[in-house]
Amino acid sequence: MIEEQRFRLGERPRRLRRTEPLRRMTAETELFPSHLIAPLFVRHGKGVVEEVASMPGVSRYSPDTAGDQAARLAELGIRAVLLFGIPGRKDSVGTEAYSADGVVPRAIREIKESSPSTVVMADVCLCEYTDHGHCGVVVDGEVDNDRTLPLLARAAVRYASAGADVVAPSAMMDGQVRVIREALDGAGLDGTIVMGYSAKYASAFYGPFRSAAESAPSFGDRKGYQMNPANRREAMREIALDVREGADMVMVKPALAYLDVIYAARRRFDVPIVAYNVSGEYSMVKAAAANGWIDERSAVTEVLTSIRRAGADMIVTYHAEQAAGWLVEGR
Ligand code: PBG
Repeated sequence: MIEEQRFRLGERPRRLRRTEPLRRMTAETELFPSHLIAPLFVRHGKGVVEEVASMPGVSRYSPDTAGDQAARLAELGIRAVLLFGIPGRKDSVGTEAYSADGVVPRAIREIKESSPSTVVMADVCLCEYTDHGHCGVVVDGEVDNDRTLPLLARAAVRYASAGADVVAPSAMMDGQVRVIREALDGAGLDGTIVMGYSAKYASAFYGPFRSAAESAPSFGDRKGYQMNPANRREAMREIALDVREGADMVMVKPALAYLDVIYAARRRFDVPIVAYNVSGEYSMVKAAAANGWIDERSAVTEVLTSIRRAGADMIVTYHAEQAAGWLVEGR
C-alpha cells in the first residue's frame, strides 16, 4: 500500500494542467483554421475530383470543382488556397505555366467567382510544366537561372491578371522575387503579394507531391538549386535576399524537419513567415494512422501546433480541411 504523504513543494506546475479549461487558458500557442493554407491541385476538365494515390484524402480538381472546394474550405474558416497546376501538355520550356488559357488562370477565375473571400495563392514554378521535370530551362544538362527568370515573371503576371492575390515563386532561382516584383509593378499589378519560397530545401519529403503533380525530374535531382538540408545560416541569407528583393511574406519548406530554421527566421525577420508542411510529412502521418500506429487527430494537432510554436504565422498543409473540421468541432 502506498502511504499518504503531503510534501511542501515550492512550485507545482501540475496545478495549471489539472483540467481542460486550465490547460486551454494557459496554452502558449494557438491554432485556428485561419492559420491554415490549403494546397489545391488543379487539372483540366469538368466535374473532376480524383484521389491522389500517394496522398490519401487529397484530390485533384478541375477548375469548377476547385471553386466548390474553395467555398467549402472558406466555410470551415480556411482563408487561403495555394494552387498547383497539372498541365494538359508538357514541353521543354514549360509553356502552359504562362499561357493565358492554362489550367491555373482558369482555376483562379472559378475560385474567385464561387468563393470571392478566398485568398488565392498561385505557385510559380516550371517543374509541373516541363517534360524534363526541372524547375527551369535546361541548357547543357543544367538549369539555367537567367533564362528561367523571365518565364517565371510571365507566369506570375498571368496568375495575378487572372485574379490571384498572391504569387509564390518556388523555383529557387536567384533573383526570382526581384524580376517578379518588377514585372508585376510594370503590368500595373502593384497590389499583388509576393510570397517567396525563400528557404526551400532539397528534400526527400517532396516524393508524394511529385507523383500528385507528375513533376519528378527525369534526370538528376534538384540539389543544384534547392538548399542543402545541412544549412541554417544559408536560409537566413536566402530570406534576407528575398525580403530585400520585395517579398511580402517568406516561407520555410519543409516544416517538421526544419523547425529550428522557422524559429531562427522568426527571431530575425518581421515579415509574415509561412511554413510548408509538405507532402511526405503528410503521407507519413496518414500511413501510420491507416496502420493503427498513431492516433491521427492528436498527431496532426501536435504537428501543426509545433510548427506554430516554432514561429510560423501560417502553415500550408494538406491536413487543412480535416484539421479545420476538428478545430471547429472542438471549440
Ligand atoms: C514546385 C514545388 C514542389 C513542392 C511545392 N512546389 C516540388 C518540388 O520542389 O519538387 C513540394 C510540395 C510538397 O511536397 O508538398 N517546385
